This record gives sequence, structure tokens and C-alpha cells, in this order.
Amino acid sequence: MRRPFIAGNWKLHKTTAEAVALVEALDSGLTDVADRDIVVAPVFTALTSAASVLSDSNIALAAQNCYPENQGAFTGEVSPALLKDAGCRYVIVGHSERRQLFGETDAFINRKVRAVLDTGMTVILCIGETLEEREGDKTFEVLERQVREGLQDIGAAAMDGVVIAYEPVWAIGTGKTASDAQAQQAHDFIRRLIADLFDKQVAERVRIVYGGSVKPGNVDGLLRQPDIDGALVGGASLKAEDFMRIVRFEAG
Ligand code: PGA
Repeated sequence: MRRPFIAGNWKLHKTTAEAVALVEALDSGLTDVADRDIVVAPVFTALTSAASVLSDSNIALAAQNCYPENQGAFTGEVSPALLKDAGCRYVIVGHSERRQLFGETDAFINRKVRAVLDTGMTVILCIGETLEEREGDKTFEVLERQVREGLQDIGAAAMDGVVIAYEPVWAIGTGKTASDAQAQQAHDFIRRLIADLFDKQVAERVRIVYGGSVKPGNVDGLLRQPDIDGALVGGASLKAEDFMRIVRFEAG
């Protein structure tokens, strides 16, 4: 059985005071939840303050990005080692906004994946096709390339530190969600690919979560799919009520 994994990606939202208020609300509202992983990813500048609120919590912290070197002359960048030092247990890598707005390639993303794993943190590797790629029947080709290249030179044992987030770009922030069946089909494809690249045990263990306009109203259906192990939530993670309802999804 794979432990469900629900993460909130706050993107470029919330001041430190607002972030602290939200983690406080989540922390007190979710204390009884013990059977799933709960993660939030505030902006870099709010991480240490959020970490002090969450020091004794069942909610863990993620960073939204990192640079693949731990120190050096890289003005403006933040390293995995520093994110760990700030209290993070996870780092999101390869989000479609990074790929599209900042030109990140699969090779660069792979360096980040390896750098995060080297610190002992868990990496949340985001993949997903654009609308054009889906309409051009390229979805599986794109997912295969992103998984293969993103996980290049990662050993089977290190896969325990990897969560894959399938986020179709056309569903991110658009209000359009992949249907339960579309999402399941992609997750099933990714899991088979992991079995090919590693082995069946790794494929059975790896968590593959869905992202793209997940909301209280659609989370239950999505998470009822056999290969959907959780959610990476953007917009709906900014409101305590909505995110708590998503965390309390009912897949039964
Ligand atoms: P969304 O974002 O839930 O607002 O669509 C998801 C994401 O970008 O991770």
C-alpha cells in the first residue's frame, strides 16, 4: 500500500505573516490526520518561519525549487543543503512553470533531482504535457522523455526519495482538470515506465500524484483511481478550508 501524499504548492503567494497564519490554521486543523503525508511549499523567504510553526507537526515543508549545487558563485540561487537547513524535507523540481517560464531542460532538472537526493531530502519531480502535445498525440512520448531524462543516473534504491507529480500543463491554474480516466491512464503509463526503467518493486512503491486544478469537488474521484496516490495542489492550497478538505479526501 502506498501512503497518500498531498502537497500544496503556494507558488509566488503570501507574505511571511500570511504564510505563518496559514500553516498555523492547517497545523491545528489537521492534527488528527496520521495516515497520509501532508506537505506545504511556501516561498523561500517564509520557510524558516513556517518551519518553526511546524517543528512538531505532521505537516512537512517543501521548497518550490533549488539550484543543483550546494555552494559557490551562483548569485541569487538557493541550494538543497540550505533548504534542508531551513527545515525542508522535500523539494519540488521541474514544475511546468520552471520549464516554460525559465527554460529549464530535462538535463538541468536531472541535476536538481540528484542534488536533492544527495542531501537525503525527497524530490517531487513534476512532469506533464502541454495542450499542443496532447492534441498532437505526443502525451506519452513527452512523459517518457521527462521521466527517463529526469531520473537519469538515479539508482533503484534512491527511488524511495522520489515522488512523481503528473501535472498536465493545460490543467494547471486553468480550472480544467484531467478527467479521472485521463489522469489514471497517464499514471498507469508512468508506473509501467518506472517498472521498465527500474523494476516492478520500485514501480509498486513509487508515489505518483496528480496536479492540475485539484479542488475539494474533484479530489475524491481522482484519488479513487488505482494509480493516483495523491495530489499536488496550487490555487486551492492557498485557502485553509479547501486544502484541509483535499487532505481529507475520501477514496473509499
Ligand atoms: P493548480 O496548480 O492546482 O492551481 O492548477 C497546480 C500546480 O501548479 O502544481
